[in-house]
Amino acid sequence: MADVFEVDRYDAAGRLGELEVPRAGVTVETPALLPVINPHLQTVTPAQLESEFGAEILITNSYVLYGSDDLRDPVEQQGLHDLLDFSGAIVTDSGSFQLAEYGEIDVTTEEILEFQHRIGSDIGTPVDIPTPPDASREQAESELATTQDRLATAAEVDTGDMLVNAPVQGSTYPGLREEAGAHAAESGLDVFPVGAVVPMMNEYRYADLVDIVAAAKRGLPESAPVHLFGAGHPMMFALAVALGCDLFDSAAYAIYARDDRYMTVRTTEHLEDLEYFPCSCPVCTSHTPAELKAMDGEERERLLAEHNLHVSYGELRTIKQAIRRGSLMELVEARARSHPAMLDGYRALLDHTAQLERTDPVSKDTFFHLSGESAQRPEVLRHRRRLDRLEPRGDSILLTEGNDADGFDECWSVRPPFGPFPRALADGYPLTAQVPERLDTPAYEAAAAGVRRLVEAHPDTAFTLAHDDWPTSALADVPERVELWNLKSDE
Ligand code: GUN
Ligand code: ZN
Repeated sequence: MADVFEVDRYDAAGRLGELEVPRAGVTVETPALLPVINPHLQTVTPAQLESEFGAEILITNSYVLYGSDDLRDPVEQQGLHDLLDFSGAIVTDSGSFQLAEYGEIDVTTEEILEFQHRIGSDIGTPVDIPTPPDASREQAESELATTQDRLATAAEVDTGDMLVNAPVQGSTYPGLREEAGAHAAESGLDVFPVGAVVPMMNEYRYADLVDIVAAAKRGLPESAPVHLFGAGHPMMFALAVALGCDLFDSAAYAIYARDDRYMTVRTTEHLEDLEYFPCSCPVCTSHTPAELKAMDGEERERLLAEHNLHVSYGELRTIKQAIRRGSLMELVEARARSHPAMLDGYRALLDHTAQLERTDPVSKDTFFHLSGESAQRPEVLRHRRRLDRLEPRGDSILLTEGNDADGFDECWSVRPPFGPFPRALADGYPLTAQVPERLDTPAYEAAAAGVRRLVEAHPDTAFTLAHDDWPTSALADVPERVELWNLKSDE
């Protein structure tokens, strides 16, 4: 594997990075969007993507070009960059998607990679087998074995300084996805797309999607650039970035536009249902929905595609700024509130908190507690683990949400959702968190788990917990030997 990817900054497992694409002579800032270009049907041209949207990278299908009577010769002679009129990085897919859709394609990995190299692709793709979700274990294993053979073949083909994708398959089996990730990393190839997730996204199975991406990431080294193949809806970009996906390709911007569908970061709307545009992009500020509805089909499609791209690029900028600031989890949480399936995706993400915690920075912008789910964030887990290394001074300790009291060797603070901590740490991240006054039960329960962790680590120390009327479910988690004071009922 060439050393082409560098991470600049993390937030959870999300990262700002740079992907060096030597053949294009460019470095692509990640997370990045790769608009899918259909060489026969360009609603928005690559030149326009570059000049108006700042696109640094795009993806097109080499199999379509390979099988095209009118484009195969021109692309072989002119090269892909010239044919498409794009100076950034060009990724080529192999026809695997057609294989999954139509069952058969007539090209081998060797042929298509040599073709991709010949036409000047910057990142090529072998013919992997996209095993659909819920395939039998036997099918998933045998197709994965075929994909793995093709990665080995791809590593043998002389592709010069073209980078090569090593897709990670394995259907809905996390164990296979993890193994596939580890195998792909050993193939010597360069970029790691997680494949066959389109059917999952079409069915809004975000929780399953999270589980398989998390599994693939466990198999891959931390430094591997990861592409989420076929993920083109901006509503799930923040979630996927938080898991550690770096590249997204979008055919959705164009497909949706063709069907008069209008993307937002929360939903997909039908143009006919809109009386107002909730967006400030050039399309939406210079037209009303009524004007678009009255246009001829081709112009309407182009404008909708432009809007869909503006929303998608805008969301990626929002995500990059959130990583800079350290507020990516707050953004994921906000996006999770737009659809029940996204909430399932966020909850599934939090099942992998320990995995996210490994790269989460020790200090960020103020932690905002925004919901019960916030209590499961990596920062809370990390604080709870840190309690094992904090030594109470003395034999009797007060843990309190209020003021110091006499009669104890030491007084510590308690703050939901983190739990107890020595007063001296109060000004450090994440204990400077902003929490709502009307706190949710999971925040108290998380704090109680912190109390339990501390108390169990110090069996010979006496603890008193002075709390602001915690719910019974939280108090039930505090070890019985802890003396309880309710500060509210004592007022
Ligand atoms: N496009 C969307 N999904 C896939 C996939 O699994 N493999 C390839 N090669 N392309 C895709
Ligand atoms: Zn718009």
